Amino acid sequence: MAKYLDLQTSSVTTVSSVDPELEKLFNQLLRSKLDSTLNISSQNELAVKLSASFKELTATIADTPNADHQCWVELFAGASEALLSIYQDLALTESERHTSYINATGQVMSVDDAVHTVKDIYRVKAFIRGLHLSIRQQIESNPSKTIHLVYPACGPFAPLLLPLLSYCSEQGITSDQLTITLIDIQPGAVKVLNRLVDDLAIRHYIQDILCIDVMGYQPELPIDILLMEAFQHGLSREGHVSFARHLSQFIAEGGVMLPEKVEINACLAKGQREYNDQWQQQPRCHSTLIDPSIQQERIELGNVFTLTLDKLRTMSVLPLGDGFEIVECEQVQIPSDVPDINQRILLTTASVNVFGDENIEQYDSGISHPRADMSICIDFIPKVPEPDDLLVRSGDHIKFYYKLCGTPGFLPTLA
Ligand SMILES: C[S@@+](CC[C@H](N)C(=O)[O-])C[C@H]1O[C@@H](n2cnc3c(N)ncnc32)[C@H](O)[C@@H]1O
Repeated sequence: MAKYLDLQTSSVTTVSSVDPELEKLFNQLLRSKLDSTLNISSQNELAVKLSASFKELTATIADTPNADHQCWVELFAGASEALLSIYQDLALTESERHTSYINATGQVMSVDDAVHTVKDIYRVKAFIRGLHLSIRQQIESNPSKTIHLVYPACGPFAPLLLPLLSYCSEQGITSDQLTITLIDIQPGAVKVLNRLVDDLAIRHYIQDILCIDVMGYQPELPIDILLMEAFQHGLSREGHVSFARHLSQFIAEGGVMLPEKVEINACLAKGQREYNDQWQQQPRCHSTLIDPSIQQERIELGNVFTLTLDKLRTMSVLPLGDGFEIVECEQVQIPSDVPDINQRILLTTASVNVFGDENIEQYDSGISHPRADMSICIDFIPKVPEPDDLLVRSGDHIKFYYKLCGTPGFLPTLA
C-alpha cells in the first residue's frame, strides 16, 4: 500500500488495490508472528530463570530452614520476579486477569490478585517443608505405590507445590511414585499453570490440570495427600471448609490433609494495643516479634473451632434451607469483673499446623493474622449501630457457628 500527502488539501490519500482494512489486519498478524518468533529464546530464558530461582529457594528451605529473614526476602523476591515475568509474557486477556466473583462457597479471587500469594514467605516455607516430609513419609510407608496428590484452588502459581517438584525430581522421586492433580476455577490460572509445568519440565508428574469448581471434583484415584489453603484470616472469605468437607470423602486410608490442623481461638484484646502499639517499633509482623507484655493483656476465651480430617468426618452440620449450611462450633464465656471489658474487642486467632513440626503461628502470614469481630459489643451500646451487632454482657456465653455459604466465616450468637 502506498500513501502520499496531497499538499494542497493536506489530507492523506490511500492508493492501493488491496482493501486497506485487510492490509492493516495482515500487518498486525505479521507483527504478532514476528513477536512470537523473536520471543522463543526469551521464553527459554524466562524458564531457565524460574528453574534456577526455584532450585535455590527449595534447597534453602530444605537444608537451611533457619536462614535469616533477609535471606528469605531475597530468595522469594527472585522466585516471585521470575513467576511474574512469565505471567506477563503469557499476556492473558483482561477478563482472564481481572474477573473475580462470589460463588456458593466463597470468594473467587482474580488471577491478578492471586499471583501475589507467593510472597507470603513463612506460609509458603512451612507448607513446602511440611509437604516434602509428608511425600517422603508416604513413599517410605509404601514404596511401590503411586501417591495421588491433589492441590485444589491452587491459584495460577500453585506456590505451595511447584517450587518443590523440580527438587523432588532431583531427589529421584519418579512419576511412578507421585502423580498430581491441580484444580482451579479460573481459566486464566489454568493457562498459567500449564505454562509453568512446561517451563519447569515437570509434566511427567501431572495427572491433570482441571479448570472446574472444586465442589464438582470426583477423583478417579483416591487422594493420598490433599494440599489446600483457601482461606483468609479467621478462616474467612474463601471456601476452604466446604472444599475440605467435600474432598474428605475421597481421601484414602492413611491419606493426609495439609494443613493437618487449623485451630481457631477467641480472645478479648484492646485494638490500639494489639494492632498499633505492638507493631510501632517493628519493621513487620511476625510471631517472633510479638510483644509478650501486650499478649499478656489479652483475655483468652478458649477454642472456637479446630479443623482436622477427623473433625470433618464427625462435625455436626445443620441445614438452613436453600443449600445454606452451618457448622456447630464451640462456646466461650465472657468473664465477669473485668473493669475495662467494654473497651475490648473479640479477636479470632489462628494457628496452623501444616505437617509434623511445621507451623504457621499468629502474625506469621496473612492467613494467621488475628481477625477482629467488631459485631460483638460487650457491656456497651454502639452509638452507630450496625444491623449485625450482637449486644452481650459480662458473664454471657457466646456460641459460634461456621457459615458454609458465599461469605464463609464464624457467626457468633448469644448462647
Ligand atoms: C488465594 S488463591 C491461591 C491459593 C493458593 N493455595 C496459594 O497459596 O497461592 C485462591 C484460588 O482459589 C481458586 N478458587 C476459589 N474458589 C474455587 C472453587 N470453588 N473451585 C476451584 N478453585 C477455586 C481461585 O480461582 C484462586 O485462584
